[in-house]
Amino acid sequence: MSLLPTATISDIARHNGQTVTLAGWVAHKTEKGKLVFIRLRDGSGVIQCVVFRKNVSEETFTAAQRLTLESSCRITGAVRADERAPGGFELDVGGIDIIQISPEYPIQPKEHGVEFLMENRHLWVRSSKQHALLRIRAEIIAAAQEWLNAQGFVRFDTPILTPCAAEGTTNLFATPYFDLGTAYLGQTGQLYVEAGMMSFGKVYCFGPTFRAEKSKTRRHLTEFWMIEPEVAFARHDDNLALQEQFVSAIVQRVLERRADDLATLERDTKPLERCMPPFPRITYDEALRLIAERYTEVEGCAPLEWGEDLGAPHETLIASMFDRPVFVERFPSAIKAFYMEPDPDRPEVALCADLLAPEGYGEIIGGSQRIHDAALLERRIREYGLNLEDYQWYIDLRRYGSVPHSGFGMGIERATAWIAGTHHIRETIPFPRMLYRMYP
Ligand code: 4AD
Ligand code: MG
Repeated sequence: MSLLPTATISDIARHNGQTVTLAGWVAHKTEKGKLVFIRLRDGSGVIQCVVFRKNVSEETFTAAQRLTLESSCRITGAVRADERAPGGFELDVGGIDIIQISPEYPIQPKEHGVEFLMENRHLWVRSSKQHALLRIRAEIIAAAQEWLNAQGFVRFDTPILTPCAAEGTTNLFATPYFDLGTAYLGQTGQLYVEAGMMSFGKVYCFGPTFRAEKSKTRRHLTEFWMIEPEVAFARHDDNLALQEQFVSAIVQRVLERRADDLATLERDTKPLERCMPPFPRITYDEALRLIAERYTEVEGCAPLEWGEDLGAPHETLIASMFDRPVFVERFPSAIKAFYMEPDPDRPEVALCADLLAPEGYGEIIGGSQRIHDAALLERRIREYGLNLEDYQWYIDLRRYGSVPHSGFGMGIERATAWIAGTHHIRETIPFPRMLYRMYP
């Protein structure tokens, strides 16, 4: 006999008045004399199941009494609309089929410290807030890919084991690779997705990326997921226009489809509703001026010399001055990656931008126009102290039908932290990898 349920809780309304079998786990249980109330969750939702001693066999009532937190079971009963019930429906239980009785569950309905919860991350993902958050993550990923697909982009998968660096040489994870020496875990799919761009025009890659950064901040993971569109013939301004459409489409879809999850997380949705194009744009130089004027407003914020990178407090300060995400564009080339196109009017700055999320969530997108001139690219590779031989294939892209082109990368976890309103990025991925955590 199949163990599969005959209905799921999320579409229980369609079964009003019918008898169904649900399958899931006990999220909560209380007993009151002749009544047992079981809150059953099946992954799609939660429903209250009412066991009334008078209406069930002795066996079923005993089964209800035996159920503990997180026990697995199948419950058969009649669906009944009830205005007072969360979700609008209850189940009048007729039968219970226990799959497994859980011993005392480590995560109890009380306050636990984050370290304990992280140690039990494999169980924590069942809790209602984590469930809501990870569902929002999944929605963001689906929204991002489906939006790009609808715009004519082709997904182009890029390798994780790579022979050389793309985003700096100080944060590479290395691994021995047979007789070929050392392989590095990809920091970005960008260089390879540029090859795809020359084949398909509009492409994106999506996958895990790695940075061996010794950063302990609430915004850094050593393994994170990035979606990276790349467009032939697009220049810097086209790139920013694409980014603001992309981000607002994702936010609107989450607002439409994940309203319940946002409510579970007590996310104030007003700042998200404002997230419509055009997004404000300021230059790096303007950012420095604003920081010099107002740095006292954010703790740990200090004025910057031209050529210094923005830190988290600077990003928080800048973002606080706008009511939607803000682009900071034209950073000094020296603090950015080797492949960025210089501004023709001011070659010491790059045609690049970081998109800063509102409310202190920091940079969610980094992007740029790419150098399309082979000689200039070669020079930059040398200036950055990189081994020219490793990049011959990448320079080839500029030898055969080179075109101006641009792209960007959005970190899924940073985007999720912002949209869901989650303070620390570690909860936005099922199993975070951080400087001090690799378990479970
Ligand atoms: O700014 P980044 O380093 O840009 C690139 O990797 C480019 N190759 C992207 C491109 O143009 N195709 O990273 C892009 C985004 C950041 O804005 C941030 O959202 C995320 O990736 N990110 C991280 N997320 C979590 N932990 C980290 N350590 C991250 N580093 C970058
Ligand atoms: Mg960046």
